[in-house]
Amino acid sequence: MYDIRFAEPGDLSAALALLVRLQADTAHHIGYLGETVEALSEELAEFEPDWSSCSVVATDESGRLAGFLSVEIDSKLRRAWLHGPFVDVPLNHPAGSRIWDQTADALFVKAREILDDITDHELYGHTNHRRLAAFAQRHGFTAGKASSIYLLDNGALRTLLLRDANYSATHEMRVLPTDPAVHEAVAVLHERCFPHSYMSGRQLVDGTKNRTVVVAMDGQRVLGYAGGKAQPEEYYVDFVAVEPDARGQGIGAQLVTELLWKLACDQGARPQAAASILAGNESSRRMFGRLGFRLHLELVAYRHAS
Ligand SMILES: CC(C)(COP(=O)(O)OP(=O)(O)OC[C@H]1O[C@@H](n2cnc3c(N)ncnc32)[C@H](O)[C@@H]1OP(=O)(O)O)[C@@H](O)C(=O)NCCC(=O)NCCS
Repeated sequence: MYDIRFAEPGDLSAALALLVRLQADTAHHIGYLGETVEALSEELAEFEPDWSSCSVVATDESGRLAGFLSVEIDSKLRRAWLHGPFVDVPLNHPAGSRIWDQTADALFVKAREILDDITDHELYGHTNHRRLAAFAQRHGFTAGKASSIYLLDNGALRTLLLRDANYSATHEMRVLPTDPAVHEAVAVLHERCFPHSYMSGRQLVDGTKNRTVVVAMDGQRVLGYAGGKAQPEEYYVDFVAVEPDARGQGIGAQLVTELLWKLACDQGARPQAAASILAGNESSRRMFGRLGFRLHLELVAYRHAS
């Protein structure tokens, strides 16, 4: 059995090597986290107060890192996202599944020391990650709908941004911060379309989560918005929503295009763009598909709310 403890800053390079290796395999892949050393380093650097105090590790007798779990906590929402557990064992080894389960459970027990006030926990992993599904079930999490990560590759992204330079949107596009009434309307539309998501409407519009938000206007009325960010390895479209009576006119596609354009202007070039789409959301899949986004990964979230 491995030794389980909180991470130390000196574990960083071993942790990154472990995560890169396991993220490449769909049977171990965890959502929300990137796949390269650059992306993962940047993500861990954003953890508060710092990545090591909210991460636990498993080490073998020689001190080699064999497991990792970190938790991102929003104490206001009393919600935590578990990034992991990652356990470095071959699952086709006769004892592989058992070692995975025992190590993952031990990592979770340790991580609970900092999850005292949390009432809502979430796990997120590839639909092929069968150990995570079993872990979720063992700990009383409920599986949500699968979601797919769609990618717009370098060539298609460049084509879209170049096309955007020559086209004009059918509606006025604003970028937050703007009028407080617009902020309010965006927050309300967000709560209606994405209740209980990882970011509230208020957090989206008040700038605390560092998202770029573009808004389509019809006079003083908000028709829709798109919110996203530039990560080291890609632009990420977090949310896009259009008022029901304005859908099917291309406003959603214009919002995504405008958002990517704005992110490129303000934060520089990235090699690709990504978006997550819930299974069964046909309008969204068609909209992103028309823009050139293609299926990359299928993920499922597991949630435990008390
Ligand atoms: C997804 C969403 C943003 C699309 O906005 P939109 O302005 O309708 O987008 P577009 O008009 O650019 O494209 C919508 C696609 O769905 C199709 N569609 C089918 N039925 C539709 C309907 N009843 N209403 C709207 N669009 C419909 C459109 O024809 C279009 O596909 P096409 O390009 O193949 O013709 C919007 O449906 C929405 O707000 N949904 C709720 C929030 C949501 O699920 N967001 C996506 C999260 S990733």
